[in-house]
Amino acid sequence: MDTTLLSADDAGIGAAAAILRAGGLVGFPSETVYGLGGDARDDRAVARIYEAKGRPSFNPLIVHLPDAEAVDRYARLPKGFDRLAGFWPGPLTLVLPLRPDAGLSPLVTAGLDSVAVRVPGHPVTRALLRAFGGPLAGPSANPSGRISPTRAAHVMDGLAGRIEAVLDGGPCAVGVESTILGLVDAPVLLRPGGIPQEALEAILGPLATGGDAAKPSAPGQLLSHYAPRGRVRLEARAAAGEVGIGFGPGPEALNLSPSGDLVEAAANLFHLLRAADDLAGEGGTIAIAPVPQTGLGRAINDRLRRAAAPR
Ligand code: TXA
Ligand code: MG
Repeated sequence: MDTTLLSADDAGIGAAAAILRAGGLVGFPSETVYGLGGDARDDRAVARIYEAKGRPSFNPLIVHLPDAEAVDRYARLPKGFDRLAGFWPGPLTLVLPLRPDAGLSPLVTAGLDSVAVRVPGHPVTRALLRAFGGPLAGPSANPSGRISPTRAAHVMDGLAGRIEAVLDGGPCAVGVESTILGLVDAPVLLRPGGIPQEALEAILGPLATGGDAAKPSAPGQLLSHYAPRGRVRLEARAAAGEVGIGFGPGPEALNLSPSGDLVEAAANLFHLLRAADDLAGEGGTIAIAPVPQTGLGRAINDRLRRAAAPR
């Protein structure tokens, strides 16, 4: 199958929506990372998402919707949701009780009675959701376990030939995936991401963090994830022969943010991991400086630990 690169104008967005309505798959931009989109009501489309990613089927998908009213058709918003409503549209995913009669493919939720929902903020994603007019299943658009895509070209690298099209919305501004907050019972932070934990805790109070690596309910909980081909070490300075990725002032040619800005570091993270991987090659080693464990730094360090995890 030839994978078409679509530009993010009215014609391209219209073509992408038509592919989705016909049960096809489209790589789409969002403010966090590129998603691999398919109709969340269509078993075959969702099965093809798992197949294209090579994803273990116990790992359920996020459903993207245009607004909280649309979310309410598929999931039960909790009492007190108003306090969180200001994070939408944006990089926050909520895991909520599923409305069983909502018509989502059971493959989207991997058979769970909860569903992960997100209202994205990127103008192109929002235009695509309007043009498509349905719930859009969308994991990150990378082969399972590999580095997440923050450019249309990254999606092409990983998935060309396996999906109908990629909609090019330019580089992703946030650069790490959405924060996942579980609200089925007491609030639990399932994955650190684009909304800092501190911002949620300012509203909800101290949050439990969830996750059992052996029985993952969010993908970040699989230990080895976001993995380049080469080996990854978390180290402030690279040794001779290693490709270094720095943070803050330093000699490294690849730097998440020379000025030490965590927002810039998140936006650069996956792009630089790919660049380092190309330089290091098969069997090479990448040394990456950990970043301060605050704000977006939690999401960045989480991705770095998983990129460095034994495989
Ligand atoms: O920023 C993002 O969240 C991107 C963009 C494309 O929206 N998407 C993304 O999707 O990162 P993905 O599939 O790579 O990560 C979403 C994860 C799933 O792997 C899954 O583990 C978790 O959300 N999840 C989905 N449904 C869940 C559920 N019912 N309970 C717990 N976790 C769930
Ligand atoms: Mg992913």
